[in-house]
Amino acid sequence: MGYKAQFRVWRGDDESGELRDYVIEVNEGEVVLDIIHRLQATQAPDLAVRWNCKAGKCGSCSAEINGKPRLMCMTRMSTFTEDEVITVTPMRTFPVVRDLVTDVSFNYTKAREVQSFTPPPDLKPGEYRMQQVDVERSQEFRKCIECFLCQNTCHVVRDHEENKEAFSGPRFLMRVAELEMHPLDTADRRDAAQDEHGLGYCNITKCCTEVCPEHIKITDNALIPMKERVAGKRYDPVVWLGNKLFRR
Ligand code: SF4
Ligand code: F3S
Ligand code: FES
Repeated sequence: MGYKAQFRVWRGDDESGELRDYVIEVNEGEVVLDIIHRLQATQAPDLAVRWNCKAGKCGSCSAEINGKPRLMCMTRMSTFTEDEVITVTPMRTFPVVRDLVTDVSFNYTKAREVQSFTPPPDLKPGEYRMQQVDVERSQEFRKCIECFLCQNTCHVVRDHEENKEAFSGPRFLMRVAELEMHPLDTADRRDAAQDEHGLGYCNITKCCTEVCPEHIKITDNALIPMKERVAGKRYDPVVWLGNKLFRR
């Protein structure tokens, strides 16, 4: 059965704006993105919203719904009561371009800073063999749809603009970890993780993992193992001595 929902949507840009109230029709089985599209079609034709797949796969429709970072296309209207005011705002960590659209170029900058996959130079096509356990580990991380909800949520940058320079965020620390744990990657990424990507800023609050729509265990399976590897290299006296001797 259809009903009228009360929506409060951010209208404006990075300089100024306001939350505007709308009453919009909702039909059975709809998601928040459907309602935003109806709002565009009927009352606010200039409302800016980014989306592509409406299937939770492109990572475009990230926003904050009642303050919670979510994909609009995967948030069912049935999770709210009919008399609830539903507030939709852009991701807070990134500059607002307009309305619900944010400038996520921070993430592309950070992606470019990760050294790419570095296989042994003499490895030929067809020789890329690895154990199933290693394949599965990579596969978990590669489910990432780059929605940047984890980047948006991590308090290191969400509350501290000044940390953006030094901290790559969970999505890209996960990429560093994925490559560091990859059996065919020859680069030693431990110093870069700490010094260039700011792994030390992460105090494993796990908020990134909680919002990941792909349910990737970012903290447990990528960040903590990466921290252990860095600690093993830097602070384990045996490893430290080994490194020293090796360098001589
Ligand atoms: Fe989105 Fe999860 Fe990828 Fe982060 S790790 S960008 S939350 S899919
Ligand atoms: Fe941030 Fe996730 Fe670490 S939320 S502090 S990157 S565990
Ligand atoms: Fe593609 Fe929502 S529109 S993830």
